[in-house]
This record gives sequence, C-alpha cells and structure tokens, in this order.
Amino acid sequence: MKLWAGRFQKEIDQKTNDFNSSISFDSRMYREDIEGSIAHATMLGECGIIAKEESARICEGLRAICQDIESGKLAIDPQAEDIHTFIEGELTARLGDSGKRLHTARSRNDQVALDVRLYLRKECTTLANQLKELIEVLCQKALAHKSDVMPGYTHLQRAQPITFGHHLLAYAEMFLRDVGRLQDAAKRMDSMPLGSCALAGTTYPLNRERTAQLLGFSSVTQNSLDGVADRDFCVELACAISLSMVHLSRFSEEIILWCSWEFKFVELDDAFSTGSSIMPQKKNPDIAELVRGKSGRVFGDLMTLLTMMKGLPLAYNKDMQEDKEAIFDAVDTLRMCLTAFIPMVDTMKVLPENMRRAAAKGFINATDCADYLVEAKGLPFRDAYKITGTLVARCIEENQTLETLPLSEYKEICPAFDEGVYEAISLDRCVNNRKVLGGPAPENVQAQANRLLSLLK
Ligand code: ARG
Repeated sequence: MKLWAGRFQKEIDQKTNDFNSSISFDSRMYREDIEGSIAHATMLGECGIIAKEESARICEGLRAICQDIESGKLAIDPQAEDIHTFIEGELTARLGDSGKRLHTARSRNDQVALDVRLYLRKECTTLANQLKELIEVLCQKALAHKSDVMPGYTHLQRAQPITFGHHLLAYAEMFLRDVGRLQDAAKRMDSMPLGSCALAGTTYPLNRERTAQLLGFSSVTQNSLDGVADRDFCVELACAISLSMVHLSRFSEEIILWCSWEFKFVELDDAFSTGSSIMPQKKNPDIAELVRGKSGRVFGDLMTLLTMMKGLPLAYNKDMQEDKEAIFDAVDTLRMCLTAFIPMVDTMKVLPENMRRAAAKGFINATDCADYLVEAKGLPFRDAYKITGTLVARCIEENQTLETLPLSEYKEICPAFDEGVYEAISLDRCVNNRKVLGGPAPENVQAQANRLLSLLK
C-alpha cells in the first residue's frame, strides 16, 4: 500500500513500481533515516506538536527497527518505494496510530535532503581519514628515500635531478589539498534542511534549531525552497572526489611506468600485482591500472549530477532521486581505490640503483654545468647555456656523458673550464644544493615530510 493511497483508486503498475522505486540504492541510508526521524520526533514532542509519550514511543520504535535491521531480523522490502516509506510503514505496522504521527510537519523531500547530508557527512570523514593515511605512508617513504637521486622529468624526458622522496611528497601535497576540499564540502553540508517540508515550510511551530542540535548540525537551511532543491553538496563532493581520482590516476600512471623494465624504479609486492594467464614472465600492475581506469566513472558521476540539476525548476523534482546512485558510486569508488592503493604503495619495493643509473644517463646535470660557468667563471647564463649545449652534442656524438668527458675536451669548447666542473656536476651535489624552499634537497624533503606529518596530527 502506497503512502498516497487516499488519492488513488488503483495499485501502481508493477514494472512502474520497479522503475519508480529507489529502495535498491537508498536502503543504505536506513541508519541516517532513523536518526533523522528520532530527532524530528523528539523535537515534535518537546514543542508539544505531538504528545511527549507518543514521541517517546516513536523513538523507541525506531531504535527497535534499527536493531532489527542490523541483526537481520527485519529484512528491507525490495518492493518498498524508498527507505523513508519502508521505515515509516514498518513503524506504523508496529505502533499503529503513534507511527502515523511521525510524519507531522515533514515531507520526504526534506527528509531525503537530510538523509543524504547525514550519510555523506560521514563519508567525507572516512575518505579524509583514508587520504591522511596515504599522506602518512608517502611521508614515511619519502623520509626513507630522501637522498635517493632520480631523474625529474618534463615531457617525460629526463630533465633535472631530484630525489625520490621529493617526488613522493609532490603527491602528498595533492592529497593534502584533497583533504581540505573534503573538509570544505563537509562544511557546506553542515546545514539542516528539515522543516522545509515539501517546499513551503509549515504552519506548525517547529524548533528547527533543536532538530539541528540533536543531529549535530551547526546551522539550519535558511530558505525552504533551497532546503529541498539544493544538491550543491553532492556536486561539490563529486568534484572533490574527482580531483582525488585525478591525483590517484596520475600517480598510478607513474607507478605503471616505474614497474616497466624500461624504468624498473619500483617493484610491486606480489600481494598487489597480478600475473598473466599465458605469459609466465609477467607481473602486472593491475591495481594501479584499475585505479587509473576507475577515475573515468567518477568523472561520469560528476557529469551525471551536473546534468541532472541544470534544468530543474524549483523545488524538488523526481529527477533528483538520481543523485544517490551517482554520488554513492563516486564515494564508493574512491574508498575502494584508496583501500587497494595505500597498501600497494606502502609495500612497493623501491630500487634506488636503477633510479640513479637513469639519472646518470640523461644529461640531467647540464643546467648545473651551465650554472658552474656562471658562478665559478663569471660567464653570462646565455653563453654558459650555449657552451653546455655544444658539450652535450659532443658527448652524444662520442657516446660519453658529462661525467666521463675528459677535461681537455671541455677546454676545447671553453677554456674557462677546470677540474672543478666534475664536482659541480656530480648528481649528489646537484641535488644537495637545491635547497631553495620547496626544492628536492634531502634536508628539504625531511623538513617537508615532517611538516606534513605534524599537519596530520
Ligand atoms: N525517493 C525520493 C528521492 O530519493 C524521495 C521521495 C520524494 N519523492 C517525492 N515524490 N516527493 O529523491
């Protein structure tokens, strides 16, 4: 029997019921729905809108329903229209008339706006905690590899020497911003919509602040139309999650490259890799590839939400029922990705010798060679740049590196060179001297990692 049975002469068509129903994806909010109803009933009782005893009976009944769902004693009916209808119907079946009083001065429109906020608010915390865990793993790894030299890249071409620790901390910064974005999204979710009712508020003398206080919200929504029509908080959260997925996806791409024999900068633990069904030698970074792949569906979720909202007149429209599958999928996907990704990064074996070998081959100290001519020999940078370019061309021709090229050949190209050049272009020196704030020197990496770790506390 539907909530609106009075107005209708027939039962809803079965297939239409399936189409209309949201229970298959909103039943996960049963706790939030019950929590919201308990707060509402409590406030109704305190304000004298329903009798105190009735309010107490409703709250007790709702707690019992929650327990029964949790213990498996009460199964959620897949035929119900949505979780709100199911719980109210169950309450009424148990309590009779008292149950029927719960929905006084409330609509499912403000009820669902509340439930989704309550649900997502918890998820924001869970996701932020996972991201913090990832940052911590990155900091610990960065400290362990603060002096391991690797090539830094632009255009995926070896560019200048950095440290592996520095590279990892670049991701730690991204994930720290992601934590901030989740916290921001949670802030704007922190407004309680009950009392907006269907769209136009109510004539009952509700104490909305009291309901907000009972539910731990720091404010109430200020316009009843906006209270039920707003899904900005879903879009904002989907944006924040999308950016996290961008970061995870870029990191995954690098891990995939690093695992290849062409790089071999890292090796994933067996527990976080997969084999091939035909090629016995293969060890594949499937987890990183899946994370990279799953970023696409999350961007799709964001697009779903934006497109769903863009043409909707105020206030509630049924289109908005589509918000849940999209935002829940985004939340679930990021959570699952982080659950697999964090231990994968934590356990991956770093191969610093291979990083150093790659760093020694790519003329990544050419800028430092030019800087040497500027600092030690007083040449203008443009001249120093050109001389170094000529040196690099000569090295390539002769299959040499700047480290192996004899001083006599340096002098042929520019007589100002002396023995000091070899010290100036040594990879360790090049990295150790990059002490500018934000640079890759080991002492910087250590300070940056410690700063991040203390921010997490
Ligand atoms: N199940 C609906 C949703 O998820 C809430 C119910 C409001 N529906 C309505 N026809 N007024 O958005």
